[in-house]
Amino acid sequence: METVRVNLPGRQYPILIGRGLISRAGEFLADVQAGPAAGYPQRPEGTRGYPGCRTGSRVVVVTNPTVSRLYGEEILAGLGARGFAPFLVEIPDGEEYKTLESVARVYEELFARQLDRGSTLVALGGGVVGDLTGFVAATFMRGIRYLQVPTTLLAQVDSSVGGKTGVNHPRGKNLIGAFHQPAAVITDVEVLRSLSPEEFRSGLAEVVKYGAIADPDFFAFLESSAVAIRVRDEGTLVRIVKRCCEIKASYVEQDEREESGLRAHLNFGHTFAHALETATSYCAYRHGEAVAVGMACAARLSALLNLCGNQEVERLSALLKSLELPVNMRGVTPGAIAEALVYDKKAVEGTLRFILMKTIGQVFLADSVPFPEVRKILKWACIA
Ligand code: NAD
Ligand code: GLY
Repeated sequence: METVRVNLPGRQYPILIGRGLISRAGEFLADVQAGPAAGYPQRPEGTRGYPGCRTGSRVVVVTNPTVSRLYGEEILAGLGARGFAPFLVEIPDGEEYKTLESVARVYEELFARQLDRGSTLVALGGGVVGDLTGFVAATFMRGIRYLQVPTTLLAQVDSSVGGKTGVNHPRGKNLIGAFHQPAAVITDVEVLRSLSPEEFRSGLAEVVKYGAIADPDFFAFLESSAVAIRVRDEGTLVRIVKRCCEIKASYVEQDEREESGLRAHLNFGHTFAHALETATSYCAYRHGEAVAVGMACAARLSALLNLCGNQEVERLSALLKSLELPVNMRGVTPGAIAEALVYDKKAVEGTLRFILMKTIGQVFLADSVPFPEVRKILKWACIA
């Protein structure tokens, strides 16, 4: 098992990465409770609970029916074996259920099961379950402990780490939320076997992102490992998830609340991606696919502005294609994307903010990118 640590002042937490870890969730939760992890006060000597709390034995696993069918029994057995009293609460499967209504339903379940401030939530699922459960944990009784047990590649390399929690609002994605770090992240790469090819590919776009923004050696490793990645070789996956988590942890440690602009580097490709998702009504592209197209566009925009060379653009596009990810926009016009870009929450007083590339492994936040150049990229990117 590999361990990556997220070192935030007073709230250090481990990301455990390996195989067969879901059934060991009880063991890891016991470890978390025994130590002063994640900013929770250390238990006073000789007591079983945290200050002001009853015992910490109640655990609610939040998941969805798809993941519950696959891994629900396993995680409940693992928690039960270590003396916890776990319950399972399901929210329906799908981004459309990442809402305040689902949050309210989970609160009701927690009250019905008499959870208190010493209890723990476990988010078992992809980014939807993880973001929603984290938000419930951030707000229930002013904040309780939670574990992330991510089951999609996207969640393992990105959403489970860093404490961004939240739900969608009719006015936009992720507009309601809170920063609340998990007490631990338990990442079992074996669960990636049951992931559909589309979901797996979607996660790979975020993997490529880490190489493109922060680590040229990792990028080169991905270039040389496309076959092992496509067949989901578990040794390769452990290495990949570990490196992505190390990079994400480093950004989170330096700019936890995305205040300095550094954490925004993690949004490389996302401005174009959000516009593409909006213009296609979230139906045509999975998030990761849209991010792949967005990164190709952001790199091409950087080259057009003479910030990086065409060689960088070609390398990035070639890697994305070798992982069966798209680099062009289909079924949408440049005008529709341009309109969506202007309404994106990143549009600041008429200019557009993009993360642009200097070279593979180095990006920066550009605050006022000229719109005519962006239009040229959209013309190039949109194909019939
Ligand atoms: P998802 O949670 O909807 O999961 C995708 C699908 O895979 C679902 O149908 C799910 O039931 C299924 N699934 C999950 N694990 C499986 C498994 N092991 N085997 C088979 N099927 C499985 O989507 P996602 O891509 O994981 O996450 C997207 C969400 O993450 C978005 O809401 C996005 O806003 C959020 N996100 C958050 C952050 C953050 O920092 N908090 C970062 C990136 C994305
Ligand atoms: N996925 C972007 C972030 O966590 O900041």
